[in-house]
Parts: sequence; structure tokens; C-alpha cells
Amino acid sequence: MLFKKRMLLSVLLVVALLFVSSFSVMAQDEEVEIFSWWTGGGEEEGLNALIELFNEEYPDVEVINATVAGGAGSNAKAVLKTRMVGGNPPDSFQVHGGAELVDTYVETGMMQPITGLLEEWGVKDKFNQQILEMSSYEGEYYSIPVNVHRSNATFYNKEVLAENNVEPPTDLASFKDALAKLDEAGVVPLALGDTNKWPAGQVFETLLVATLGPDGYNGLWNGETAADDPAIREALVHFKDLMQYVNEDHSALTWQDATQMVHEGEAAFNIMGDWAEGYLKTLGWTPGEDFGWMPVPGTEGSFVVVTDTFGLPKGAPNPENAKKWLKIIASKEGQDTFNPIKGSIPARLDADKSKYDPYLTDTMDDFANDTLTPSIVHGSAAPEGFITAMNDTINSFITTGDVDQAFENFQANHEEYVQ
Ligand code: GAL
Repeated sequence: MLFKKRMLLSVLLVVALLFVSSFSVMAQDEEVEIFSWWTGGGEEEGLNALIELFNEEYPDVEVINATVAGGAGSNAKAVLKTRMVGGNPPDSFQVHGGAELVDTYVETGMMQPITGLLEEWGVKDKFNQQILEMSSYEGEYYSIPVNVHRSNATFYNKEVLAENNVEPPTDLASFKDALAKLDEAGVVPLALGDTNKWPAGQVFETLLVATLGPDGYNGLWNGETAADDPAIREALVHFKDLMQYVNEDHSALTWQDATQMVHEGEAAFNIMGDWAEGYLKTLGWTPGEDFGWMPVPGTEGSFVVVTDTFGLPKGAPNPENAKKWLKIIASKEGQDTFNPIKGSIPARLDADKSKYDPYLTDTMDDFANDTLTPSIVHGSAAPEGFITAMNDTINSFITTGDVDQAFENFQANHEEYVQ
């Protein structure tokens, strides 16, 4: 009797164990971990819409939305690198096309090529090829661009400009006149939030494009433009001029805080990538009615590209589900769901324009006609070491105002990390 009872108990135990283990295998199969820095402040709404679309298509797969807050990945990138190097990759992660993807993760052998998937899904030719090429290395593609953001964008509060009789500027000279006039009127002319250093670096990169021209700027990364080109010094002088007009507490604020100053009428202009447009919309503003836009004055005809992409790391715990995620972001529907909310334009060329607001359709036209230049600060143009060094140089330059020192530092940074 006792023996029989024990037998029964053992059988029950085995059955229970089998049940639990099959359940955990199932649970593991049925999730996908997506890593990004899109957390609130206008960043997460687009991501959530994409996750919703994924859930409609794949109701059995749970998306683990792994985010680390901090604009431009100021905290997320380090966390990601630790995970990747430690052999604990997410299933897919946000990464900028260009150096950030290729130098950090492809050349080091941490990513799987996805060329076959692009072919299988018949989407390779649907993308802007210059953008897609930013994800390629030695004949293979390693990630899929979900969007194109513009780094050299400027947004302004229409009411503040009108109240102060300021016309939207058309070049750097008229921009500086407008800033001076607003300053005299007691309005913060230019909102900046560089508690993380990149927003100041981003203003500077756009001024480099203004003074070097897009081809000269692109030449900095292929050896055709020397780092002691006088136009770089000129960009520093413009930068110093603009910094006279920023809010005093800039180094305590985030990019969202600065954008919010424009929204609240505390400041007139904000030079920021067009994720600020997504944010202004989530704050309730209508493009063209409440706020206006223009390229950073002096950069008309140039489009400084920021592109968010997703790939497939080696050792991803759920590679099949990661491929489903990639398929969604590569689709026209995925791109047309995400981008109108995020404030970016699609990397595919066959978008449904009716889904995009006047700012975004305007930007699509510029993208089609302008010369494209990769952003430094957002990972595409130069290695990470250069980005950090340049952001440090620019942030201390705000304090010292020493143009010659900053120019020297720029050259030394370029020599150390780029050449
Ligand atoms: C960029 C990224 C954008 C946006 C921005 C601010 O690097 O490409 O999608 O998230 O940072 O966080």
C-alpha cells in the first residue's frame, strides 16, 4: 500500500515537473525582448504603436519592452554594450546605422547578417539605398532602418515670434538678429538642455555642416577634409555666438525640458532633432499652427541623418521571434505606424504620405532633394571615442569660450579617433 502510494506520488511529481518545464520552454519561446531608450517624453508613443501592431500580427508572442531612459542612449548604450559583451543580448535592439552598428557590433562579430531576410521578404529595394547601406558591412546587411530623423532641425513658438515681430530667419545672420531682438524683449531666445552633453554637440555638428557645406562635412570622415580646415573654426565662432542666447540653466535640463520651454512660451527657438516634433505633438501642439520649423539656419539643402535601426544579435534567446519583430519594422505598415508619431520619416520610399503631418511631408521633400550627411552625435559618422571627445570639447567650450583651444581639441580628437 505504502509502496503504491509512493509510486503514485513519484508519477505525479514527474508529470508536474514535465508540465512546469514544458510551460517554461513555451514561455521562453513566446517572447521577444526589444531594447531601446525610448521612454516617455514623446519617445515611447511611437514604440508602443509598433508593439501594438506586432501584437495584432503575433498575438502569441509577448514583447518584453526593455528600455533604459536617457536621450540619445546616454545611459542605454553602456548597458547594451555590457549585455552584448557579457553574452546576454536582447533579441533585438535600437542602434544607429553607420559606425555605431558597424564598429561596435558587426566588426566585433556580435551580429548575424540579415541580407537573406531582406531578400526573402522582398523589401531590399523598397528602402532608400543610402540609408540601408549605412547598415552594411562587407557585402552583408546587419540591421533594418525603421526611420530617418533629421538632426539639423529648428522649431519655434509661432506666437512668441509674432508677439515680438520676429520673422522666421532664413540664414545664420538673420537668425542671430532674431535672437538678439528676442533677448532684448526678455524672452529666452534659444532653448538648450545639455545635462547630457549631446544636445550641445548636436548644435555644433549642424554648424559644421553650415560652414563646411555638406560635401566638406562628409569629407571629414573619408579623409578629404582636413581637421584644421578654417571652416571648422568658423563653426565654433557661430556656436559661441548662439550660446549667448541660451537659457542660463541649460546644463541642468534634458532635451525634453528645453523643447517644453518652447511649448510653454518661455523660449522662442529650439535646435533639436525632429523627435522634438513627436514630443510637441504629444504635448498637444499642431504642426504649422502652434509651431513652425526650418532647417538650422545656414544648413538649407543639407539633411543631417539620424537613423534608428534594429538587427539580430548572435545568441539572441528568441531568434525566430526577433525575425518577426524585424519583419514588422521592415514593413510599409510598420514604418507608417511608427514614424508619424515619432516625428521621423520612413526609411522606405513607398510610404503612405496621407498618414504624415505637414512637418513630416515637408521633411520627406527635403530628404529627397538635399545632400545627406550622417550625424556625428547620433552614431553614424564617427567612432564612439570621437563622439565622446567632441561632446566634451564642445561642453567645456561653452564655459571657456576659448575658440582656439576648442579648435585645437577638435583637431586632436579627430587625429586620435578618426584618421
Ligand atoms: C536619437 C535617436 C532618436 C531619439 C533621440 C533622443 O539618438 O535616434 O530616435 O530617441 O536620440 O532620445
